[in-house]
Amino acid sequence: MASENSGPANVTVKPMKSEHLAGVMEIERESFVSPGSGKLWQRELNNPLSRNFIASIHLDTREKVIGYVNFWVIAGEIQLNSIAVKNTFRVSGIGAQLMQTLMSVAAAEGITTATLEVRASNTSAIKLYEKFNFVVKGTRKGYYDEVGEDALIMWADIGKN
Ligand SMILES: CC(C)(COP(=O)(O)OP(=O)(O)OC[C@H]1O[C@@H](n2cnc3c(N)ncnc32)[C@H](O)[C@@H]1OP(=O)(O)O)[C@@H](O)C(=O)NCCC(=O)NCCS
Repeated sequence: MASENSGPANVTVKPMKSEHLAGVMEIERESFVSPGSGKLWQRELNNPLSRNFIASIHLDTREKVIGYVNFWVIAGEIQLNSIAVKNTFRVSGIGAQLMQTLMSVAAAEGITTATLEVRASNTSAIKLYEKFNFVVKGTRKGYYDEVGEDALIMWADIGKN
């Protein structure tokens, strides 16, 4: 299983632990209208279906969380629930590095399909997912309550990566 790997700008990807949650939640707050609570994240860390990784860099002796991904391995598929990169570190390959970790986990666990839902307007995320062979297979009309925005349902045949 891909537990650690190095990528752009000395970024390390590794399994998320409780000590990373403050950094994860800071990224959530700047990325989403409805960020998850600490309780929810603790539940994810304890959920046997859940896989959680962070991307981090080291500043002197301090580890700084600059991205994370959360997905479930459920019914023989990967369900990507959430991925985000700290806004000052975006478009430098860190999202792709986190997605590559998801793909490595899938390969190690013999999983060949993955699914996710994304806001139709979220072009950054859609570009990232397309890079990993996700394609739109359906739409949930008005799925996001607050603005009535559609959700795109994307699937990937991850054997192709
Ligand atoms: C979506 C997100 C995780 C992407 O992370 P990232 O680190 O910026 O992505 P990367 O740098 O790895 O880019 C991956 C690909 O997407 C493209 N991309 C990413 N953001 C883009 C943008 N704003 N405009 C155009 N292309 C973009 C990159 O160019 C790259 O493609 P390439 O290799 O062909 O050039 C990041 O924008 C983010 O955190 N957004 C807020 C949270 C969010 O919306 N998460 C998704 C829903 S859960």
